[in-house]
Amino acid sequence: MTDVRPAVYSGPQRVFSGVQPSGDLHLGNYLGALVKFVAMQDDAECLYCVVDQHAITQWQEPAKLTAQTREIAAAYLAAGVDPAKAIIFPQSAVPQHTELAWIFQCVARVGWLDRMTQFKDKVGKNKERASVGLYTYPVLQAADILLYKATHVPVGEDQKQHLELTRDIAAKFNHDFDRPGFFPLTEALIEGPGARIMSLRDGSAKMSKSDPSDQSRINLTDDADTIASKIRRAKTDPAPLPDHIEALADRPEATNLVGMLAAMTGTNPASVLAEFAGSGFGPF
Ligand code: AQP
Repeated sequence: MTDVRPAVYSGPQRVFSGVQPSGDLHLGNYLGALVKFVAMQDDAECLYCVVDQHAITQWQEPAKLTAQTREIAAAYLAAGVDPAKAIIFPQSAVPQHTELAWIFQCVARVGWLDRMTQFKDKVGKNKERASVGLYTYPVLQAADILLYKATHVPVGEDQKQHLELTRDIAAKFNHDFDRPGFFPLTEALIEGPGARIMSLRDGSAKMSKSDPSDQSRINLTDDADTIASKIRRAKTDPAPLPDHIEALADRPEATNLVGMLAAMTGTNPASVLAEFAGSGFGPF
């Protein structure tokens, strides 16, 4: 872990991350986040939150939300997060998350939020009907992280821009209140082939809980037969697999399947290609 604490920041190295209870977890959540949660729990103080207040930025059935919040906590345990080593908790149990979010809403600038691509992707043409909470979601996320002065946040690549905003908010707060190093400039931990798992139906869209097609994702609760069937039906292209990564440049679906295998087997895309070069998708 790189030490990102500013010279004047004397707090400990601390890891924070969260998952929304907005549906069933999928392989992207597992490889982009949960695997890293487990890997870090022996090296640092870790807090893993179920961010239920983020989930309500889009409509959730209240009774279902309670059950889903427990299910995400269960998924943390099933993935290997050890409650003796890491703290697992629901966001709504700690009101200071939303209290700090309000202060940060007064620190962040509208221009910063206007640049957030996840908001634009989620609302599409229906911006007028989106909740204000969905727009200010990244500010609450900054509060989640900085409330604990977390120095590292393991996340998937889709969260990169939100983590940059968290650093901007921390830096502006430290500057405006003349408290250099009060908040750390948190580092996102994004590396590895599992950081961006794409839809099985469209290699240009990320695998997502809210995709209406269940065939687009591998749910962590799918059984082996269902997973095998989804992989067999995944979108591919007619060419065989190449022997070098550069040749995958315009082949998003092939890139995704190679990346998934690399992430699941703990290797890298180059090693996967070394094994399957010249192969069609059937044998692969
Ligand atoms: N496709 C993905 N590949 C790698 N990592 C991913 N993550 C999400 N999708 C992928 C990572 O999983 C963690 C939890 O994400 P989240 O549930 O808080 O929100 P999200 O990123 O909005 O996930 P979804 O599945 O796309 O949910 P919906 O459809 O509800 O918006 C994060 O670390 C995220 O990076």
